[in-house]
Amino acid sequence: MKINAYAKVNLTLEVLGKRADGYHALRSLVAMISLHDEIEVEKASGVTSDTGYPDDLCIKAAKLLNVGAKISVKKSIPVGGGLGGGSADAAAVLLALNELYDLKKTREELAELGAKIGSDIPALVLGGFVIMEGRGEIVSRVKELDEKPPKYLVLVNPGVFCSTKEVYANCTPSLREGGEILYNILTHLKSGDKISSNLMNDLEMPAKKLHPEIAQAMKELEEAGCEGVLMSGSGSTVFGLVSSENKGREIASRMNSKGYWSECVHTIVR
Ligand code: C5P
Repeated sequence: MKINAYAKVNLTLEVLGKRADGYHALRSLVAMISLHDEIEVEKASGVTSDTGYPDDLCIKAAKLLNVGAKISVKKSIPVGGGLGGGSADAAAVLLALNELYDLKKTREELAELGAKIGSDIPALVLGGFVIMEGRGEIVSRVKELDEKPPKYLVLVNPGVFCSTKEVYANCTPSLREGGEILYNILTHLKSGDKISSNLMNDLEMPAKKLHPEIAQAMKELEEAGCEGVLMSGSGSTVFGLVSSENKGREIASRMNSKGYWSECVHTIVR
């Protein structure tokens, strides 16, 4: 069985505090995007995967369901890039095995299982626009946005690897109590207004300090005419909003010619 493993960007990401378990409490609006890996899953007696990653989330995902699987992955999502690549693959493996073995688990049950192995997996199991809280395990789908026209964005990877752990360790949690940031962006998305001034990511500052290449890539996206520019997740991939697919493609090819990995993508609902 073949399935696409879609990546995500964080349109907002607030780091609210450090928890007793060492993780950080978050509030984030996650949007699934069209960039994807291609996963092939077959029934098998044991669990194998061809990624070669030492800590393969696909294998962990299959083991969560207690079934055998032969998994192969064709990667397109940059690894360690803040786009949830490994989590996207694991989410797709959960969804595919649920169907292959007719396990009849709901998306919510699969999301809850996925949370045991990675913070971004629950959001990527649900797909579409998702509000993510806790350390990532509390997720809710914003269904009202399913019917809205897609947003186009240009992704740029500055070519540096961001360690999620290191970026979080260098982040000072904000003391925001209320949910105005999330409320404001949701209001703008629902009414179809521009969201460029509603984008924010508390991990951007520490990541830029660790890797100045991130700030440089963001500057180039701004100069190329993107309407709002932000880093996704814990980096290093950054994105800029554009008004049309044509404009996005033009900017992505300009960024490619400067030597960057860059693609024009759009938001997607699974
Ligand atoms: O859960 P995941 O493997 O994606 O997290 C990687 C690392 O990022 C964790 O070990 C932790 O250091 C940091 N993290 C965090 N708070 C979160 C998510 C991740 O501190 N909510």
